[in-house]
Amino acid sequence: MIKGIIFDLDGVLVSTDEMHYLAWKRLADELGITGFGREDNRRQRGVSRMASLEVVLEKSDKIYTEKEKEELAERKNKYYLELLKDMDNSAVLGGVGAVLTALKRKNLLLAVGSASKNAPVILQKTGLLPYLNQVSCGLDTTKSKPDPEVFLIAAEKMGLLPEECLVVEDSAAGIEAAAAGGMFSLGVGPFHASLASDYSADSLAAVADWEPILA
Ligand code: BG6
Ligand code: MG
Repeated sequence: MIKGIIFDLDGVLVSTDEMHYLAWKRLADELGITGFGREDNRRQRGVSRMASLEVVLEKSDKIYTEKEKEELAERKNKYYLELLKDMDNSAVLGGVGAVLTALKRKNLLLAVGSASKNAPVILQKTGLLPYLNQVSCGLDTTKSKPDPEVFLIAAEKMGLLPEECLVVEDSAAGIEAAAAGGMFSLGVGPFHASLASDYSADSLAAVADWEPILA
């Protein structure tokens, strides 16, 4: 029986994916990297900032040192934070507040399990923090999804076993991480039909009946 739900943040609770894309695109353009587009951006979903950078740099002939890569990731994050500056509750995806409230009423523990190091800032700006019992994010981890570390930390913080947790994800790397961690998964978002998740829905708000998923 499911006792806790671990939500990915970007693309599951909030609509930050376009901002990530625009910030990476700006960096790619500055580096003269042509051909970085939305299809590549799809592979950046769920994975860490440095892994996302590699997706951009694989389009370049130039070899970058680790130090240069750190600087590029930092530059992208600066652009991303500029885009997040005026972020507020309107960035929360439709119906998320009502779903989280309904799940809390079922006495489930709720956590975020996100690769993002900006998760605390985003949760603060969007007003989502009060809904959550725990947060596990890129600041807690050393390994990126599809490694299950971020979800295992979330489960541990909630005091739950992996098999007592459901992971909600919009990325292939995240669904793989949930399975690797021994957790059930619900795939949502634009690519939900292609995800190898246990359950699937267009969005959190589109889940018609939670009972079979939580049983
Ligand atoms: C994930 C996003 O949630 O966070 C990725 O899906 C992103 O695209 C990753 O690269 C890391 O985010 P940040 O905010 O730490 O750069
Ligand atoms: Mg995501």
